[in-house]
Amino acid sequence: MKVPIILVNFKVYETSYGRRGLEMAKIVEKVALETSTEIIIAVPATMITRVAESVTIPVYAQHVDGVPEGAHTGAVTPELIKDAGAKGSLLNHSERRVRMDEMDDALKRMKKLGLESVICVDRYELVAPMALLKPTAVLVEPPELIGTGVSVSKARPEVITSAVDEIRKVQGVYLIAGAGITSGEDVYVAMKLGSDGVGAASAIMKAKEPQKVLLDFVNGAIRALEER
Ligand code: G3P
Repeated sequence: MKVPIILVNFKVYETSYGRRGLEMAKIVEKVALETSTEIIIAVPATMITRVAESVTIPVYAQHVDGVPEGAHTGAVTPELIKDAGAKGSLLNHSERRVRMDEMDDALKRMKKLGLESVICVDRYELVAPMALLKPTAVLVEPPELIGTGVSVSKARPEVITSAVDEIRKVQGVYLIAGAGITSGEDVYVAMKLGSDGVGAASAIMKAKEPQKVLLDFVNGAIRALEER
């Protein structure tokens, strides 16, 4: 994982799967290559192999189950996503919560397999406790702003600054901010407040011109880094 971190969560929009999902992945790859920036995409489990075989950018799962190999119908395990070509996974997104013990089980196995991990939390108070589990990054997102187009940078900047204070208590874990990130300015502010990057979904997945939006994001991130 490299700073600036830009993580595009495909969720399950109509642009997330099939031919359109593949097109979206290629658009993200194009922007990543043109700007020499790492952009991570978290795709639906059914798309991991197709996407990972078609693009060079890091592909994540959106969720993994901490259950061991064996009789667990419907489970998506760390072994399965790795075999499918994923480089890591989100864990505990507000839209896909997991129990703390399950998260710890999943994380331990992900680490053994060399997979990256992004634990999502819905409040800054959980940033340090989750960072103690040593994921690659913690992503803080106020749930009430997710999908609204009203960014955490503008509406709840104190969540980012408090999360930055929290992540400093633990060494070696990145902090990502998300929810409602819509513009390069939102990315710029999130990073100026001290985050290592952003997580975003709707602004890209629902955009008429996702390439433009993403390019704006990357420019905002680069501007913030230059001013550090
Ligand atoms: O994982 C990122 C996501 O929850 C943010 O969603 O649509 O507010 O960018 P959105």
